[in-house]
Amino acid sequence: MNHQPVEGFSKLSKQGKIDWLIKEYLDGNKEHETVLTQYWNENPDLQKLHDEFSENTISNFFMPYGIAPNFLIDGKLLALPMAVEESSVVAAASKAAKFWIDKGGFKTTIINTEKLGHTHFIFKTEAHKLLHFFNFKLKKKLLEATEDITKNMRNRGGGILNIKLIDKTAELKDYFQLKASFDTVDSMGANFINSCLEQFGKTLKEEVANEESFSQEEKDSLQIVMNILSNYTPDCIVRAEVSCKIEDLKDDSGISNEEFAWKFKRAVTIAEIEPYRATTHNKGIMNGVDAVVIATGNDFRATEACAHAYAARNGKYSSLTHCTTDNGIFRFWIDLPISVGVVGGLTNLHPLVKFSLSLLGKPSAQELMSILAVSGLAQNFGALRSLVTTGIQKGHMKMHLFNILNQFGATEEEKQHFVTYFKDKTVSHHEVISELEKLRNK
Ligand code: MEV
Repeated sequence: MNHQPVEGFSKLSKQGKIDWLIKEYLDGNKEHETVLTQYWNENPDLQKLHDEFSENTISNFFMPYGIAPNFLIDGKLLALPMAVEESSVVAAASKAAKFWIDKGGFKTTIINTEKLGHTHFIFKTEAHKLLHFFNFKLKKKLLEATEDITKNMRNRGGGILNIKLIDKTAELKDYFQLKASFDTVDSMGANFINSCLEQFGKTLKEEVANEESFSQEEKDSLQIVMNILSNYTPDCIVRAEVSCKIEDLKDDSGISNEEFAWKFKRAVTIAEIEPYRATTHNKGIMNGVDAVVIATGNDFRATEACAHAYAARNGKYSSLTHCTTDNGIFRFWIDLPISVGVVGGLTNLHPLVKFSLSLLGKPSAQELMSILAVSGLAQNFGALRSLVTTGIQKGHMKMHLFNILNQFGATEEEKQHFVTYFKDKTVSHHEVISELEKLRNK
């Protein structure tokens, strides 16, 4: 069936949008309506709140919200909130937290908290002339022009840290940047940074127009292409680490401490040199990071983009974690560039986000950076620990068992039967189905 474009979809009521979708795309089948409305019928006020976060909302998309307890981070014992749909992530985090709790826990260091943004522009002029104008006139004007925008942030201890002129003409003809760094204190700062940058774009245009040292032809060539923050923040970075004597690195899978340390370190080295492995390795790290990022109302697309750009900073995609086993000491760490906020955005609106931040003791943005890096490191520790010992399927399939059983509408009694049945066996899809058939035919 050919569909027709719709006019004024956003102006339809929620019910109106659903009616249109069902008629246009779902053969008029009203059963779909129940799937969508079950969420808002249950709690209309909550749905209304969520409707306002985004546009054209017709329902809500729930995600499991779990807790990984026993995280000892810089001497504080925390329970981490994790919003994630993938089985085993919360279990792996909890297991890693427990492993490190009696070995001093996780230690973190904030290396820097600088955020970046650019005014990208095209200007047919000589770079040295532009640099002179920037140093002796423009920079001061840019700071003055943004004083109103930066006032509140400066009162909170942040603001614009620096502005530089960057000559990019070797890579793209006539391309320059104003590259600004910011301290956004406890906010992620996207609106603040973008407002400053848009003002830079305007001021640059005005100041060039009034500048006598540029010819009319030069002035006419100026094009402000865009003003936007960069999600790549290599100088907004936190280190999280664990360490212990190799002799204390007891794993319950039966291999010796030395062998475990050696295999673990080798697995990290493989991720350092092999991009195919590094991608999966870092994906596992982001399982832990994103789950807490989402639970605390932050932007997981931004944290993903930044982490992967950083992992490729040396020209080859590589591991975000590192490991050494020198002088009998096992040391495992992550350097994670990550820009997050604990004020603004969803932090004061979404009930579960508010709960998550309270659960974490209302952390500052820097403390949240530490927690996120720890969550990523713990997740990677858990994954590598399984991979180099039992393999991951053992744990994964146990969790997956419930997904399979739910697909077949298993009762609580049947689920209990399967937990016992697979106590000492590896779960397989085939085995679940055949045992379920036997059970139901009894
Ligand atoms: C699965 O989501 C993540 C892992 O593949 C990560 C890894 O291989 O390190 C288990």
